[in-house]
Amino acid sequence: MAKKRARRIGILTGGGDCPGLNAAIRAVVRSAVRDHKMEVLGILEGFKGLLGMNTVPLAYDDVANILTLGGTILGTSRENPFKVRRGKPGKETVEDRSDLVVESYRKLKFDALICIGGDGTHRKAHKLAQKGLAIIGIPKTIDHDLRGTDETIGFDSCLAVATESIDRLHSTAASHHRIMIIEVMGNRAGWLALSAGIAGGGDVILIPEIRYSPEAISSFLVERRRRGRRFSIVVVAEGTRPHGMSVPRLSNGDYGGDPVGKVGVAVARQIHDMTGLETRVTVLGYVQRGGRPTPNDRILATRFGTEAVELVARGRCGRMVCLRGNEIESLPLARVAGPPLTVPADHPLIAAARSVGTCLGD
Ligand code: F6P
Repeated sequence: MAKKRARRIGILTGGGDCPGLNAAIRAVVRSAVRDHKMEVLGILEGFKGLLGMNTVPLAYDDVANILTLGGTILGTSRENPFKVRRGKPGKETVEDRSDLVVESYRKLKFDALICIGGDGTHRKAHKLAQKGLAIIGIPKTIDHDLRGTDETIGFDSCLAVATESIDRLHSTAASHHRIMIIEVMGNRAGWLALSAGIAGGGDVILIPEIRYSPEAISSFLVERRRRGRRFSIVVVAEGTRPHGMSVPRLSNGDYGGDPVGKVGVAVARQIHDMTGLETRVTVLGYVQRGGRPTPNDRILATRFGTEAVELVARGRCGRMVCLRGNEIESLPLARVAGPPLTVPADHPLIAAARSVGTCLGD
């Protein structure tokens, strides 16, 4: 028997926002409506919107002028339908409401659901697919820590902001002969710090995957000064754990009051105490997640979005679209749902950083 044609699909954005989400929403809506005569419903605030059946119709013209817009017109949340928290902090109850999501999906008469998200969203999507929902994932994350794809929406835009920030720190660092510490995001992975550090010419790059020694950094910085280099830039990934200092661990997935800025400050204190050199800290924070997507992110989001709709049309759900080399492909959600992808010790970026004289703290 021929498969039923998909007529009505839902789309949501989950997890932290990033530039390029709207470009993906636009691509999904336009290709679904134009090429496949599908009806699209936007679900507001990620899985939270499915729990509350909070949706908005998305017609072809509703997605005009959003290609270059940062954030997500649908809103987002880190709501986990398998662990819904209710009540005040300290008196919270946790409930599995995933059956309600399945019920909403049926009531909304969806033939498929497209989830744009990172590792947390894909883990939830995989569990919902196991409960019978037809789901396609589209990878986005500024952390670049999602398995199964060479690129994720948002990383390139975030990297551009982080790199420009490092570029800008150079002139003020040089004028004051200071050690400039810049803390960037990335959760428990060092992809963003390593990439921005290399692109921006950071002298020291600290990532969670490489255990650093404060002594090694300090002697590197003192030696640089001895050679006449009177300023230095230290790029620190937020997931780096400074030795001997108590910095709370980053939580995974469902964040709550993470220690943004504490790592940068701790590293600055260590460097100052050991070298006596004047140090300053910049915490890039949420600025790096805001604003317009780069051309590469717009193109990636458009390719991912249109391919996601193709997969729905061909009845190939339970998969995530991905980039391999320059080809858009897809893989089963089960293969994405593992732990976050961190930087392997033998990654070429690490070798390249070392070869240009960057100190990685070890
Ligand atoms: O996963 C993206 C990210 O920006 C991480 O780099 C960061 O640790 C986290 O989200 C911050 O989460 P929230 O937006 O919930 O504060």
